[in-house]
Amino acid sequence: MCGIVGYLGEEKALGVLLEGLKRLEYRGYDSAGVALVSGERLHVVKSVGKIRELERALRDVEPEGTIHLGIGHTRWATHGRPSEANAHPHVAGPIALVHNGIIENYLEIKRELEEEGYTFLSDTDSEVVARLIFHHYGGDLFEAVREALKRLKGAYALAVISEEEPNCLVGARKDSPLVLGLGEGEFFLASDIPAILPFTRRVLLLNNGDKVLITPQGVSIVDEAGVAVERPVQRIMWSIAQAEKAGYKHFMQKEIFEQPRALADTLRSYISPEKGEVYFPQAALDDASRWRRVTMVACGTSWHAALVGRVWLEPLVGVPVEVDIASEFRARDPALDGDSLAIFISQSGETADTLAALRLARGKGARTLAVCNVVGSSISREAHGVIYTHAGPEIGVASTKAFVTQMVVLYLLALRLASDRGRMEKEEVSRRLGVLLSLPGKMEEVLAREGEIEGLAREYFQVKDFLYLGRWLNYPIALEGALKLKEISYIHAEGYPAGEMKHGPIALIEEGLPVVAIAPRDRVYDKMVANVEEVKSRDGEVIGVGTQGDPLGQRVDRFLSIPPVDEELTPFLTVLPLQLLAYFIADRKGCDVDQPRNLAKSVTVG
Ligand code: AGP
Repeated sequence: MCGIVGYLGEEKALGVLLEGLKRLEYRGYDSAGVALVSGERLHVVKSVGKIRELERALRDVEPEGTIHLGIGHTRWATHGRPSEANAHPHVAGPIALVHNGIIENYLEIKRELEEEGYTFLSDTDSEVVARLIFHHYGGDLFEAVREALKRLKGAYALAVISEEEPNCLVGARKDSPLVLGLGEGEFFLASDIPAILPFTRRVLLLNNGDKVLITPQGVSIVDEAGVAVERPVQRIMWSIAQAEKAGYKHFMQKEIFEQPRALADTLRSYISPEKGEVYFPQAALDDASRWRRVTMVACGTSWHAALVGRVWLEPLVGVPVEVDIASEFRARDPALDGDSLAIFISQSGETADTLAALRLARGKGARTLAVCNVVGSSISREAHGVIYTHAGPEIGVASTKAFVTQMVVLYLLALRLASDRGRMEKEEVSRRLGVLLSLPGKMEEVLAREGEIEGLAREYFQVKDFLYLGRWLNYPIALEGALKLKEISYIHAEGYPAGEMKHGPIALIEEGLPVVAIAPRDRVYDKMVANVEEVKSRDGEVIGVGTQGDPLGQRVDRFLSIPPVDEELTPFLTVLPLQLLAYFIADRKGCDVDQPRNLAKSVTVG
């Protein structure tokens, strides 16, 4: 998953490209490059490593004069290892191209082009696209791109320029995100919105299959069928600060502390507590009365949100709910039909396995609903309906605020369906909505204890293994706490249903293996306390997460407390100390918290 940018305008293209690439680094960062058109010549500079390496390389070769046209790229390798040759932009004759996605039939096309005498400098599928466009190029770049794209199978977001057309920038997307920014006499292409926010708030979201020709005279778009179309211009209200760190050390830290606001924003968008109403976009609930079963599909943290959602949905709505990891859902060929609701949860809306699972479910006639955080993302567009979380841009690779907003959307969905099916009175819905509105304040209380948690991190940052235990609603939170720790601190951590301890994990208990036990005051509290005793009686070390003032605090070695809350809502609070613990341990270890090794923010390769 990579980041691409493009610029055509009166300003110096290079500064805009570098600024944009820095905001896209989280999308992948093993190499980077820019291509500029100056004096009817292409200038291409590429480097391995992060954007700062590219800036260093540019200092020696920055072309003369004001350059108005350019494209840039930051790469997360999918074909070919990180190297300068494999870095983008890729050049073919007068043409330069940057690409995000995977071309499935690139080898077949590469062989055909080699038979025509073309040679290749890289192992990438993207260079094949550049040469294919050059193969069709007769002086009209837009035409050549349209011709070439007819041959491609797979996913792409492209920005293409030619030294022979210094006033022309071409873009195209299929199954990879691409947005168009409209400035005053200047135009921007980018993989997503934060990259262009410093320059414009007017954004046009390209549809799948769209190709766009940008010239100083304006923008013309043709859709997948080659028909000229208009796309709506949206005004993005994200402040630049929202897309930057706002004084925090890392995006992840900022996003952890943004969770109360993100939850409040998402609630505000969908509820009227006084009326006891939950409002969702109509398309999200078409045929809702028909649904006899629910399947939820996601990856990683989003899958954990689905596991929490199931605990709410089944008893409240009275239908069976399955939860699947997207890659497993695809593999098992599920039995779905028109009475099935399939929900696809994805922060980025671009995760390849989740997108493929959505397409599989649609193909089987299921009603599909997306829960996404990125407006206009592929999953949000391909589902029958979408309910957006309003977490704002989540830049840190480790998902935090998107997770809590995904959970609250699923809880609201359970309340709405229960109410529509006559299983919950308006008064009870209203009461529960009122309790939900108290959550942001309770979250603030937990987050205010960051100093205590940072102190705990100083004690545990050199530990090699962690075990996380939870039950019922907090079993997925045990999984989430373990994932947070392992993905940013590289410490091995395992989440487990506490009821399974006697079936294996209890053999792990020994001094030096901290066990995080999530045991708020809820219906499984007594069983969790028994698990704590099991661990303590074997000289294990327990970090308890529980309700403030609870006697549990005296039974464990360390105690992270949450304020009292309805038992159905504890996950919104118990996850917070686990996020902070993982963050402070990773930071203490000097890990790259926002861009952990080997990970990307959105896994757009299957
Ligand atoms: C979570 O911290 C990870 N970054 C990862 O597990 C993530 O949740 C997963 O890749 C799914 O991403 P999505 O929500 O954008 O589909």
